[in-house]
Amino acid sequence: MKLQNVIEKHGRLPENLIHILLEYQAQKDNNSINEDEISHVARELGLSENRVYSVITFYSLFSKEPRGKYVIQVCNDVPCHVNGSFSIIEELEDVLKIKMGDTTRDGIFTLEKTSCLGCCDKSPAIRVGESIHGDLTPEKISEIISFYRREYDECRE
Ligand code: FES
Repeated sequence: MKLQNVIEKHGRLPENLIHILLEYQAQKDNNSINEDEISHVARELGLSENRVYSVITFYSLFSKEPRGKYVIQVCNDVPCHVNGSFSIIEELEDVLKIKMGDTTRDGIFTLEKTSCLGCCDKSPAIRVGESIHGDLTPEKISEIISFYRREYDECRE
């Protein structure tokens, strides 16, 4: 869906900014919002570009830099760290064949560290898009990655 269509779907009101950005970014293959899109949203919603930019930089769900279709955010705050987030990171790097901060060559996955995801009782935890996966062990990682690869392939059939 084009950006203008997403704006019109939600309504051209400043309070719809986050919903518009989330929906539009999620459907883009590079999972990011560029300068032109920031200007467009700001103009349509009657906001300053600085306001839109500050929302994008404040929330870790958003990015101005191109990323994979699925951004895997690994919580690295204390409870997750104590419960083994380091072994989850190692397994993700191994399965995806990338290092933390990188994007897979096929452009499907980006690996990022983040702060508390608000589900410490399920630590260690990761977020993929808007979904949380908790109580993780390294053994569960391949299954999670396969799920998203299948979803990606199905969307392209
Ligand atoms: S510390 Fe990881 S979810 Fe809270």
